[in-house]
Amino acid sequence: MRIAVIGTGYVGLVAGTCFAESGNDVTCVDVDENKIRRLKEGEVPIYEPGLEELLRRNVHDGRLSFTTSYADAIPGAQVVFIAVGTPPGEDGSADLKYVLSAARSIAEHMTGFTVVADKSTVPVGTAAKVAEVIRSHTRHEFDVVSNPEFLKEGAAIDDFMKPDRVVIGATNPRAFEVMDELYGPFVRTGKPIIHMDPASAELTKYAANAMLATRISFMNEIANICNRVGAKVDLVRQGIGTDERIGSRFLFSGVGYGGSCFPKDVQAVVKTAEQHGYEFRILKAVEDVNERQKKVLFEQVVSHFGPDLSAKRFAVWGLAFKPNTDDMREAPAVVVINALLGAGATVCACDPEAIEEARKHHLGDRIDYVEKPMDALDGADGLILVTEWNEFRRPDFEAVKKKLRTPVVFDGRNIYSRKTLEGLGFTYFGIGV
Ligand SMILES: NC(=O)c1ccc[n+]([C@@H]2O[C@H](COP(=O)([O-])OP(=O)(O)OC[C@H]3O[C@@H](n4cnc5c(N)ncnc54)[C@H](O)[C@@H]3O)[C@@H](O)[C@H]2O)c1
Repeated sequence: MRIAVIGTGYVGLVAGTCFAESGNDVTCVDVDENKIRRLKEGEVPIYEPGLEELLRRNVHDGRLSFTTSYADAIPGAQVVFIAVGTPPGEDGSADLKYVLSAARSIAEHMTGFTVVADKSTVPVGTAAKVAEVIRSHTRHEFDVVSNPEFLKEGAAIDDFMKPDRVVIGATNPRAFEVMDELYGPFVRTGKPIIHMDPASAELTKYAANAMLATRISFMNEIANICNRVGAKVDLVRQGIGTDERIGSRFLFSGVGYGGSCFPKDVQAVVKTAEQHGYEFRILKAVEDVNERQKKVLFEQVVSHFGPDLSAKRFAVWGLAFKPNTDDMREAPAVVVINALLGAGATVCACDPEAIEEARKHHLGDRIDYVEKPMDALDGADGLILVTEWNEFRRPDFEAVKKKLRTPVVFDGRNIYSRKTLEGLGFTYFGIGV
């Protein structure tokens, strides 16, 4: 099939590459000239495990190409995916300007019947808005489909190639047919393609992220109670996670969720509900709990060292909002580091992939950066673990102790053992352990 993908971010690039990998002829379009230039040179502008190799192979085999020109990509494409960003507007609702601008450009370049599939996460009613924009800029036939994406950054290729389900929201049987054919190769193991109306598909995506965010905030509250009553959140997690009605995933307590999806999608659902005269109380609480949770590590630092940190220096391990990505959008590390700097401390941070992103867009030269985790400890008064990259999991704690000025570890992801660390003479802070 001939396909175009609009937007070459985490979603568009992965979707385009995976569709090419399954034999389609894919052209990816982006308005960012720099991104397209790098992609044409075989350089992947984001860090996503496995993507670079897959992308290069498909470019080499002639199934995948990149352009800034809609005129190169849209004529003759049977399916066009919209995968542009939907950042929060000032009031928290999703800003649709990129989606609607892409819709208009698609319409202006269509040369025949086209299925336009919205992969961006968008509020209920967007498919209808996209259809309206397209209708007013073309005379060709088209169907607008809602096809939300559920991939996780850090495991995006695997998630896309082997989805738990594919959700298609459409009104016309011919659109379902085209989409079923396209996704056939990805659901050979019997995972379902679920057909529904566009509004339900749009809400499904928000409901999925809102549910996952709720689990995280819920477990963070349980952890905060554990700290106060002397219980251990890891044991509680195992105790409830083995209940099949609950399941074991997304039950880890920590420093709060971040990333490009949960924070904005939770806000967008609250806003959509509000616009329809409904107060979504659970999700407001989920958001409040998360904002508070991002401050827990800093509060622990203050409880140990006092509020004036002006003579203190901290090693921070982990900047990305989660391991295996360089994405720092809404990353808890930014909140922790800003609070430390605000209290007068200096910071030396290490992250396997996100240093460039941190320096360019989030923290600038206000902190020091090092490539090797152990180098961050030189002259530091304490170690703060924010993101649980594998390389941070098993450090030589004897060596860590020698480097630190005072042996104290703030473990924002509960990856170290309190018993082991206390046995070695460290003061240990965890989240409910
Ligand atoms: N990142 C994720 O893990 C994830 C997962 C599922 C769904 N989503 C959703 O998918 C959408 C895209 O997310 P992302 O993280 O890939 O975004 P991103 O910000 O990484 O990439 C978006 C890209 O779209 C490009 N763009 C903007 N306007 C354009 C236009 N008119 N024409 C062509 N290109 C244009 C931008 O230059 C950018 O490269 C969002 O709605 C997001 O909520 C994201």
